[in-house]
Amino acid sequence: MSTSREVARVGVVGCGLMGSGIAEVSARAGLDVVVIEADERAVQAGRSRIEASVDQAVRRGKLSEARRAETLDRIRITWEPDELVDRQLVVEAVPEVEAIKLDTFRTIDKVVADEGAVLASNTSSIPIMKLAMATRRPEHIIGIHFFNPVPVLPLVELVPSLLTSPTVVEVASSFASGTLGKHVIRSQDRAGFVVNALLIPYLLSSIRMLESGFATAEDIDTGMMQGCAHPMGPLALADLVGLDTVMAVAASMYQEFKEPLYAPPPMLMRMVDAGLLGRKSGRGFHQYPPSG
Ligand code: CAA
Repeated sequence: MSTSREVARVGVVGCGLMGSGIAEVSARAGLDVVVIEADERAVQAGRSRIEASVDQAVRRGKLSEARRAETLDRIRITWEPDELVDRQLVVEAVPEVEAIKLDTFRTIDKVVADEGAVLASNTSSIPIMKLAMATRRPEHIIGIHFFNPVPVLPLVELVPSLLTSPTVVEVASSFASGTLGKHVIRSQDRAGFVVNALLIPYLLSSIRMLESGFATAEDIDTGMMQGCAHPMGPLALADLVGLDTVMAVAASMYQEFKEPLYAPPPMLMRMVDAGLLGRKSGRGFHQYPPSG
């Protein structure tokens, strides 16, 4: 690889739940961050999301006022993909829709000048090889999968494809663990990787349980919190992840394995049709006041 192993300039494409968190932790680690969003409105929304999160970190005593300002100064959000030109590592975090991700990778491939740059996806479930083959440099593509909320959860799944070069794996691993301080686990390039292969069937089972009238949403969530010491119940967790994302991840896994346990239940699909996407839309299996 032509770049130095030490990544200093990071790009993030998409500033939704995950992209904003990835930009925040990168800036908090001292990196220079460029974030790409679709248009001016999305840029504003992304900036507000990052500000709300760093403000929360300050309130919780995790970040000083001075570091808050430095963090925000290191993040530039724009709708101009060309601004990725000088990035050494780019993380794609656009919606979990294969066509959108393929398109994004074509753009990143075209714009990023450094032939040694690491081009990563935060996909939860789309095979990395599919994304790699949309570019002219498949050996530089890797999955770096974060967990929501990104500033809080320590895990990153590292997912090389069959073609990812060992140097790219090394740089991505050192970025996630050395620079960001995340705990890294490795997964083979299979839809769902390690965590979602286990988590999604659990979330879907809770939705089927609700759909069949087996128990109320409150009792299902309380059952897993009080009975198994989970920090939140499965329906509240689905709301946190976003029901559109849960459905998309389930659909990718169903497409890959054809296992009925991965098939999205009709209740989930109807809620997504209705725009009931969980926390981000104010209503999912539970209701969320606008203040968050
Ligand atoms: N920056 C830094 N730290 C922050 C923060 C921020 N912006 N916001 C909160 N924190 C810290 C708090 O200070 C607190 O730290 P301490 O324990 O040291 O005090 C900790 O994070 C927990 O925060 P809260 O007290 O506000 O919240 P909580 O205790 O109610 O926990 C939660 C909230 C972290 C979301 C918890 O409920 C949880 O872990 N839920 C499960 C989340 C989960 O499973 N996520 C994975 C989803 S799957 C996914 O993301 C991948 C996919 O592909 C779909």
